[in-house]
Amino acid sequence: MTDSTARPVPEAFRDSANVSATSYDEMYRRSLEDSDSFWAEQANRLLHWFTSWESVQSGSLAGGDARWFEGAKLNAAYNCLDRHLENNADSTALIWEPEDESAENRRFTYRELHDAVCRSASALRGIGVKRGDRVCLYLPMIPEAVISMLACARMGAIHSVVFSGCSPDALRERIDDFQASVVITADQAIRFGRKVPLKARVDIACENLESVKRVVVVRRGGDDVDWKDGRDLWFDDLLRGAPSDSPAAEMGAEDPLFILYTSGATSKPKGVLHTTGGYLVYAALTHEVILDHHAGDVHWCTAELGWITGHTYSVYGPLANGGTVVLFEGSFDAKKPARTWEIVDKYQVNSLYTTPTLIRTLMAQGDSHLETTRRNSLRVLGTVGEPINAEAWNWYHSKVGKDDCPVVDTWWQTETGGIVLSPVPAAESIKPGASAKPFFGIEAGLVDDSGELLEGEATGHLVLSRSWPGQMRSLYGNHDRFVESYLSANPGHYTTGDAAHRDADGHYRITGHVDDRITIAGVTLDTSDVENAITSDAGIAEAAVVAYTRDDGKDGIYAWVTPRIDTVTDNALADALKNRVQESLGETAVPDVIQWAPALPRTRSGKILRRILKQIANGAVDDLGDTTTLADANVVDALVELRQKGS
Ligand code: PRX
Repeated sequence: MTDSTARPVPEAFRDSANVSATSYDEMYRRSLEDSDSFWAEQANRLLHWFTSWESVQSGSLAGGDARWFEGAKLNAAYNCLDRHLENNADSTALIWEPEDESAENRRFTYRELHDAVCRSASALRGIGVKRGDRVCLYLPMIPEAVISMLACARMGAIHSVVFSGCSPDALRERIDDFQASVVITADQAIRFGRKVPLKARVDIACENLESVKRVVVVRRGGDDVDWKDGRDLWFDDLLRGAPSDSPAAEMGAEDPLFILYTSGATSKPKGVLHTTGGYLVYAALTHEVILDHHAGDVHWCTAELGWITGHTYSVYGPLANGGTVVLFEGSFDAKKPARTWEIVDKYQVNSLYTTPTLIRTLMAQGDSHLETTRRNSLRVLGTVGEPINAEAWNWYHSKVGKDDCPVVDTWWQTETGGIVLSPVPAAESIKPGASAKPFFGIEAGLVDDSGELLEGEATGHLVLSRSWPGQMRSLYGNHDRFVESYLSANPGHYTTGDAAHRDADGHYRITGHVDDRITIAGVTLDTSDVENAITSDAGIAEAAVVAYTRDDGKDGIYAWVTPRIDTVTDNALADALKNRVQESLGETAVPDVIQWAPALPRTRSGKILRRILKQIANGAVDDLGDTTTLADANVVDALVELRQKGS
C-alpha cells in the first residue's frame, strides 16, 4: 500500500538550511503583517537597484492593478551578471550539457556569460531593437537561449520564449499576438539524435508577418537553411565585432521583462506578462529559500526554457543568486534512464528541480539504472508541475536521494512567477505529496462553489487573496481578459483554477485542476485520488484517469495505466488495481476500464495531456485540437490504436 507517512528531514540539512522552520513561520507572519518592510528588506538584500522605490506596493490584486517597487530602477541582467563580477567573476555561471554525451560540454564563468550577453545586447541594438520592443526566442536548450534572454533584459527589450516544439501555426499566432520585431532561432535543434528544422518553421510562421524585421539564426544542427536576404542574419556574424561595452538599461521596476504564453489547450493562448522588479525579487527569494541555495551551489532545473520553470529556476532565480546553473540540451530518453543521474554526478548537482512525470518515467525503468551513480552531492530535491503520487515521492526520496534530502513538492503557475505553496525544506519532516505551506507574502484560501471562503480543514477552489511581488500583471495587450480570466470568478481573489485540500494545520495539498474533477452518479471525485490509489501498487509507474461515456451512455471512468518495466499486465492485476480503488475511495470511484498504456501523452513541461486522453477514451480522435506542446506525438497514435483494439 502507499506509504504516506512523513519522512524526517536530516538534521545536517536542517542545521545548515538558509531558513529554519521556526524562522520560516516568523518570516511568513512578518511578510503578511508588516509586508512593506519585509519586502523592502528582501529587495535590498537580494538585488542591486539603480534607484530605490517610492512605494513598495500599490494598487491591489483584486483591482487588477498591483504594482511593486514603483519608481525604482533596476536591470534584471545586471542583477544576474554584473553584480557578481566583483567577487565571483571566475566562478561558473552556466554549464551546458549536450544531448550527445560524447560531445563536448560548454562552460561559462560569470565574466564570460557577461561578455556574451553584453555583445548580444549591443548586437540587438545594432539591428534596431529598441527598449520595449518584443523579441521572440524560438531556440533549443543551448546557451544562446539564456544569453538571448539576458541580452533582451539588458537592453530593455521584452522577450517571449516560445517552446521549440511549437508548430509553425502556434509560433505564428504568438509572434503575431505580441508583434515581435525580431525572432532568434537556430538552424536546427537536436532532439533524440534527430535534427528538427527550427529555421524552416520560422520561415513558415513569419510569412507575411509584417512586424518581423529580422530573423537571427544560431548555428546548431549545421545543415543548410533557406535564407531571406535583408531579413536573416547569423547569430555569430552579428556578434562578431559587436562591442562588449553595453550599458544595462535602467528599467522601471514595473517595466515588462517577458511575456510567456500558457498552453491554451482549449482557447487562444494567453500571453502572461511579468514585470522586472517584483518578479526578480520573488524568483531570487524562492530559489534561495525553497531550493535552499548556498554560495557555490550547482542547481539543475530540468524544465525547458520555454516554460516558466525554466525562466525562474534555470535563469533568473539562480543567476540573481550567483549560483551555477546546469542546462541540458537533451530530451529525457526513457531508454537511457541513468543519464539523469550521470549528469548529477558529473556536475555535482546540489539542487535538482524536476517534474513528477520525469520521476515516474525513470521509476518505470526499475532501479538498476541508479546503481552506477552515487548522487551524493544532492541536498534538495524539488518537483513541480503536477501532483506527485506517494509512490513516486517515496522513490525520489529514498532511492534517488537515499533518504538524505528533503523533497519539496512545489505548487505554482506561469501566472504566479515563482513558487507559491511548498513544504518548508528545513521542516522536521515532510509528508509525500502534501504539507505545502504558503510562501512569504502569499495569502492562500479555499472557496466553495458559491465563492464563500471556507474556514479550517476544507476542500475547495484554491484562491490567492493579496498581491505578491511575482504575480503576473496582465495578459499582454488584453487587460480585460486578465481580469475576466483570473479575478472575476471570485471577486477579491485570484482564482487559480486548481482544487486543493487544507488540513487542520493549514497545510495544502493540491488535488488537481478543477476541470480534472469527475462527477459520477452525483459524486465528485478528484482524478488524483483515483490515480494515487492505482499507483500505490508497486508494479505501476503512472496512471491518468479521465471521464468517458460508456457504451450504455452512462458516465464512466477510464484509467490509462503505465506499468513498471518488469510488471506483468494481466486481468488479475487490473482487478487488483480496481480493488485498491474500491478500498480507498469506494465503489463509485472504481474505473470501468483499466487500459494499459506504454506511455502517456505529455507536454514537454511534463504535464499529462488529459484532454487528449479523454478524447481518445471517448473515441473522438478525428480532431485532437492543439497538439503542438506534445513531447512525443507517437505516443498518441499508439494509444489511439490500443483504444480501437480495446486491449
Ligand atoms: O494545475 C497546477 C499544476 O500546474 C498548473 C500550472 O501550470 P503551468 O502554468 O504550466 O506552470 C507549471 C510550473 C509552475 C497548476 O495550476 N501544478 C503545478 N505544480 C503543481 C501542480 N499540481 C499539483 N502539484 C504541484 N506541485
